[in-house]
Amino acid sequence: MKEDLMRLKEKTLEILSRSKNMDELNDLRVKVLGKKGELTQILRGMANLTSEERPVIGKLANEIKENLENKFSEKTQILKKALQEKKMEQEFIDITIPSKISLGSRHPLTLVLDEIRDIFTGLGYQVVEGPEIELDYYNFEALNTPPDHPARDVQDTFYITDKILLRTQTSPVQVRTMEKQQPPLKIIAPGRVFRSDAVDATHSPMFHQVEGLTVGEGFTMGDLKGTLVTFVQEMFGYDRKARFRPHFFPFTEPSAEMDISCIACHGEGCRVCSYTGWLEILGCGMVHPNVLRNVGLDPEKVNGFAFGMGVERIAMLKYGINDLRLFYENDIRFLEQFQ
Ligand code: FA5
Ligand code: MG
Repeated sequence: MKEDLMRLKEKTLEILSRSKNMDELNDLRVKVLGKKGELTQILRGMANLTSEERPVIGKLANEIKENLENKFSEKTQILKKALQEKKMEQEFIDITIPSKISLGSRHPLTLVLDEIRDIFTGLGYQVVEGPEIELDYYNFEALNTPPDHPARDVQDTFYITDKILLRTQTSPVQVRTMEKQQPPLKIIAPGRVFRSDAVDATHSPMFHQVEGLTVGEGFTMGDLKGTLVTFVQEMFGYDRKARFRPHFFPFTEPSAEMDISCIACHGEGCRVCSYTGWLEILGCGMVHPNVLRNVGLDPEKVNGFAFGMGVERIAMLKYGINDLRLFYENDIRFLEQFQ
């Protein structure tokens, strides 16, 4: 029996040293030390031993069992450590590999807005802001736009209630400013505006405008024209063609629109300019006497001029972009060109 025990020990240690994973190790443990394992089998023979032999064999069996258990847990530790090391190796991150993360850049609309702001502050204009959710009064009524005017059509305007709407233009900021500030004043008011326009290469239901307003004494259309031509030259350079067309706005009289020669076709006519060779960038005119009266000013004493420009259109012309939808898609390939 003593030999049986010693042989079991040797054999087990030998297999143990060769086992390569936890499964093999567990199987061996059960096979040798388990309830129905080989050690138990051998010890069954204890019943046949003499009373002198029994304690000796018993002691030996316990020693072997203890010894094997120690070896098993040693081996378990070794295998676990190897497993851990292998895992670490697989999860290794090489921090020396060059990264592909690109730096962010400013959005082209932000760049153009900043430039517009710089040009006008250079001309002595002050920057103000107004709310995007606006009262019908400021967006239309105070701007001499009567209730039956087509611009109030629900097809063009996003109404929230009868009296509250999403501003369709930055012009309400003219009124809000004149209510608070006495002339002489020169302000620009950049911001978002909303119209239920159908989307195409030059129209979006949400876009940006910059409003301009100058009020004081004795202004003429010549001042308006001089200011806007200066703006165009600063923005696009001296050789860019611009033209004024007579137009109608309820809040200016006389009124005009200003076009810039189309960037995509250079005046030949294309999809971007609706085959006219020109792209409309702004509306303008001399402030209507009724608007001045609505804020308590006397049109016999003060007058002024105003303009409202489309920022997307200006950015298109500035950067040669032929579709304004590109501004809102946030395609990184488009945006990273403006680093
Ligand atoms: C106005 O909004 C007037 N408030 C401008 C004005 C201000 C006139 C002060 C007189 C005095 P208009 O609807 O034409 O005018 O729009 C002005 C500019 O916004 C256009 O010239 C164009 O550049 C731009 N714009 C108009 N609709 C859209 C649109 N759906 N998407 C992108 N840009 C647009
Ligand atoms: Mg227009």
